[in-house]
Amino acid sequence: MTPTPVQSSAPGKVILFGEHAVVHGRPAIAVPVTQVRATVTAKPAPPGSGLTLIASDLGKRIALSTVPQDEPLAAAARFTLIHLSMPEPDVTLNIHSTIPIASGLGSGTAVSTAIVRALASFLDHKLGPAEVSPLVFEVEKIHHGTPSGIDNTVVAYERPVYFARGRGSEPLTVGEPFTLVIGDTGIRSSTRVAVERVRRAWERNRARYDALFNRIGDLVDEGRDAIEAGDVDALGPLMDHNHELLIELGVSSPQLDALVNAARSSGAMGAKLSGGGLGGNMIALGHASPHAGRAQMDDAEQVAQALTEAGAARVIRTTVTATG
Ligand code: MEV
Repeated sequence: MTPTPVQSSAPGKVILFGEHAVVHGRPAIAVPVTQVRATVTAKPAPPGSGLTLIASDLGKRIALSTVPQDEPLAAAARFTLIHLSMPEPDVTLNIHSTIPIASGLGSGTAVSTAIVRALASFLDHKLGPAEVSPLVFEVEKIHHGTPSGIDNTVVAYERPVYFARGRGSEPLTVGEPFTLVIGDTGIRSSTRVAVERVRRAWERNRARYDALFNRIGDLVDEGRDAIEAGDVDALGPLMDHNHELLIELGVSSPQLDALVNAARSSGAMGAKLSGGGLGGNMIALGHASPHAGRAQMDDAEQVAQALTEAGAARVIRTTVTATG
């Protein structure tokens, strides 16, 4: 156990292609968003005080020994202690995050990941992503009921992933960097609710929804080929197509559609909702490898401006590269 404070962090994420279909066994692609992060600082606490989690941004103070088993922040700590076969230490975990909550950017996942890492390193254990990801997956089940596992994978590995439920993740080579402009509707939405809505619709009409999932799965594979080949031009139309299929699944919203349309009208190469939908964030593809010159960087700026004018609560620009 370290006598000094330790700090760990984890990034946000966006789903580039394949959300929802991935819950039903099709592949999906996700990338980390390193501009926003969750950070956890672990500090020694007086003997006998046990483990306390403090999330001052959320006005939460939780003592591990007194909360129900399914409190998600405490669960991340509890699963870590079980994994390490360690008793509850005297420690205070201070949680901060710049990731907007309930918006499809993986805020809960990043907080869980940072808790697991900070507590493990406070206890002198360094856990790699292959150990962290399954622990966070257990917490995801509390958050979402039936998560696919893509969020904990992309956040723990902090690099672009091609993921299929049951098959795990494969590393994704990025042939040419590209820029995403992320626009937040400002409307909080629950992934659990969106996933359940799709599941109920699928139960009522399996043939129709399986066909939609298959079409999404096919374009995820086309997306992977384009990303690996560095064919950024091919990605925009695939994003547009994925958004149409997400509308058919019933998880878009008027606000998401308005931001998607504003991005396209301002010159984005493609745009779609990202994550659970029904609110939260959308993503647009700006022109823009960092090598592509000033005119193309300005295109991403133009898209960002159009999203703000169309009412986005927040806009983030991120460049996807091979390492994150
Ligand atoms: C959430 O980021 C993506 C969904 O596909 C849910 C999941 O994969 O668990 C909507």
